[in-house]
Amino acid sequence: MVKGNIKNFFEDYLSKESIFENKKVLQISYTPDTIPHREVQIKEIAGILAPVLRGEKPSNVFLYGKTGTGKTLSVLHVIDNLKKLAETKKLPLHIVYINCKLKRVADTEYRLISSLAREFGQKNIPTTGLATDEIYRLFLKGIDKGPNQVILVLDEIDQLVKKAGDEILYNLTRINAELKNTQITFVGISNDLRFANDLDPRVKSSLAEEDINFPSYNALQLQDILNERAKRAFKIKSISEGVIAKCAAYAAREHGDARRALDLLRVAGELVERAGEMELKISHIDFAESKIENDLVLEVISTLPKQSQLTLLSIFDLYGKKGNERFFTGDVYDRYSEHCKMCGLKPLTQRRLSDLIAELDMLGIINARIVSKGRYGRTKEIGLAMPQSSIPNLISQLNGWLGL
Ligand SMILES: Nc1ncnc2c1ncn2[C@@H]1O[C@H](COP(=O)(O)OP(=O)(O)O)[C@@H](O)[C@H]1O
Ligand SMILES: [Mg+2]
Repeated sequence: MVKGNIKNFFEDYLSKESIFENKKVLQISYTPDTIPHREVQIKEIAGILAPVLRGEKPSNVFLYGKTGTGKTLSVLHVIDNLKKLAETKKLPLHIVYINCKLKRVADTEYRLISSLAREFGQKNIPTTGLATDEIYRLFLKGIDKGPNQVILVLDEIDQLVKKAGDEILYNLTRINAELKNTQITFVGISNDLRFANDLDPRVKSSLAEEDINFPSYNALQLQDILNERAKRAFKIKSISEGVIAKCAAYAAREHGDARRALDLLRVAGELVERAGEMELKISHIDFAESKIENDLVLEVISTLPKQSQLTLLSIFDLYGKKGNERFFTGDVYDRYSEHCKMCGLKPLTQRRLSDLIAELDMLGIINARIVSKGRYGRTKEIGLAMPQSSIPNLISQLNGWLGL
């Protein structure tokens, strides 16, 4: 763009009408006024926690369901109402919500317990260095001075346990026995369905005295959710017929994920806005879907170890060269060895490379099918798991990350 033109560009941009009335409504962090299709779960959570208002300890409760099924939203909705009521009635209730995925706050046992200790008045806790016992002691001392009833919501607790091991769960189950004045009620939330099943029976009976399942939404339910939000987000008549249904259908394909559905609608809206058009059409949803898909793949690839990135780059390279021709582990190995030389890395054995290929297959980035080559034994036939059009961009990203 020629210098100076950018000013006109921005002025032009401002003078154009936008299809959005209030784009914020489509952001994941926005709290909607209504929460369709979660009445049952919200009532259940509220019913379990209500005794806290009378100063009695509620049962610990565990919520589970796949991502985007409204767990966080529903819990926040309930505790928000509890908090307000407790405030107006001056009840001795303290509610803490923590997302265990938050880096530096709650992603290790040390960090989680020290964050909690700080929350309960222990201001001078070093960010590292104390023994776990000591951290717990400070936390218990702090919390036992406070209000009688505490509700501790630990969102995405599966992430913490995956990273830090399940000892933390045993430690949490023991806390109440050591407190004199305060009672803690735990609300655990997990996106991983297996997590709940795999819990040690002792932990389960203590931390999940009650459990509540959040089933995935079906396409019609997603439509209701989207309609509510779209009404506020877009100007009247800026969405064509069928757009919401298409979004819902796409998001329901894997599992009914409201986050994915909202992302699709927002990204599609942004595409329309950027193109300076005035109507969101069904075709925009297709574009948005492939954009989101590509961004997700890119994110996964960016976090892979170097050796896996090299393996992937070799596979993409072979695709560029061979087109749709079939190729095998041995072909990848040759290309991969050349790449290693170029970056001064020592190549892994072909056997180890074959493991990396299997991992890439599990992540859904490529397809690897085991085939028999007669007396030469078995090998993997490798195919793409994404449209060929996204390969050039991925190759250049990989080259950048690998410094090639
Ligand atoms: N029933 C619903 N009504 C309105 N919005 C919803 C509903 N369920 C989920 N959402 C929205 O979808 C997104 C993901 O929901 P969230 O509660 O974070 O899911 P989870 O915690 O189960 O992964 C959020 O933006 C949330 O506002
Ligand atoms: Mg959540």
